[in-house]
Amino acid sequence: ASTLGAAAQQSGRYFGTAIAAGRLGDATYTSIAGREFNMVTAENEMKPDALQPQRGRFNFSSGDQIYNWATQRGMKVRGHTLAWHAQQPDWMRNLGGSSLRQAMIEHINGVMAHYRGKLAAWDVVNEAFEENGSRRQSNLQSTGNDWIEVAFRTARAADPSVKLCYNDYNIENWSYGKTQGVYNLIRDFKSRGVPIDCVGLQTHFTGGSSLPGNFQQTLSSFAALGVDVTLTEVDVTNSSTSQYAGLTQACINVPRCIGITVWGVRDSDSWRASENPLLFDRSGNKKAAYTSVLNVLNGA
Ligand code: G3I
Repeated sequence: ASTLGAAAQQSGRYFGTAIAAGRLGDATYTSIAGREFNMVTAENEMKPDALQPQRGRFNFSSGDQIYNWATQRGMKVRGHTLAWHAQQPDWMRNLGGSSLRQAMIEHINGVMAHYRGKLAAWDVVNEAFEENGSRRQSNLQSTGNDWIEVAFRTARAADPSVKLCYNDYNIENWSYGKTQGVYNLIRDFKSRGVPIDCVGLQTHFTGGSSLPGNFQQTLSSFAALGVDVTLTEVDVTNSSTSQYAGLTQACINVPRCIGITVWGVRDSDSWRASENPLLFDRSGNKKAAYTSVLNVLNGA
């Protein structure tokens, strides 16, 4: 196959990208994105500050713009993200304890009602762990250690059809504290019947010759708990071809690794643009890393 999406589809997987609403008027951007990908994540437009800028007043305009752009082209959409310590609206940032607990529940219910039945997955909770594997100290954590469980139970009730994911970065190396912290959370949820369907590994890599230790083992270990695994925000500084090929191969090797999303289209679209971490250059040309990924997806 000659595009990332079609090549991934050969094994039943998807290949996605983050989309920014502000770039949908850029014809180079939209022609690449529309051609290459079959899954879309809103880079910022479905985050709490975007969707509920004032308490009780939801604004879905930019999120819907991305949703409509994607689905009109036959692409699916991942929701990102419902509960996160960052990109909270000002009114939420100042809450804590039971009032924040209630606000989180209302946010999940309000957003998920709007997108009910429409999305492939939601990143219900994002980045809730410290590097050492303990819980991140945040205003959400101040509501009680069970806030993650409450978020997932609320989400399941609000939209029983959408896949519910936990998403984080630096959980790619199997022998890392944060990886183990997240692993233990998922294991606990599965053993107690707390609803969770998938784990998103953001996969923001620092270029080099090799992948973080035992990356594939991390994917298969999460999968063995009974959840799907997805690479949700892939970028690699300087677009190391060996790392791009390696992370793609690791996903292909794990049956429950269901798809890969890169965090932007061209290098110039990236949150870390100066590190040229994506698959297309600033002019929209395919980079060597693009070819390395496509070849792995094609089994070449
Ligand atoms: O929209 C405003 C604009 O009005 C203002 O003029 C401008 C001035 O700074 O800022 C604009 O907002 C920026 C927004 O991106 C849209 O471009 C924010 O400042 C900036 O902080 C925000 O950065 C985003 C970042 O999340 C914030 O946490 C990045 O685009 C986005 O790629 C990044 O994505 C995160 C994932 O959600 C979670 N995992 C890590 C990943 C990378 O940080």
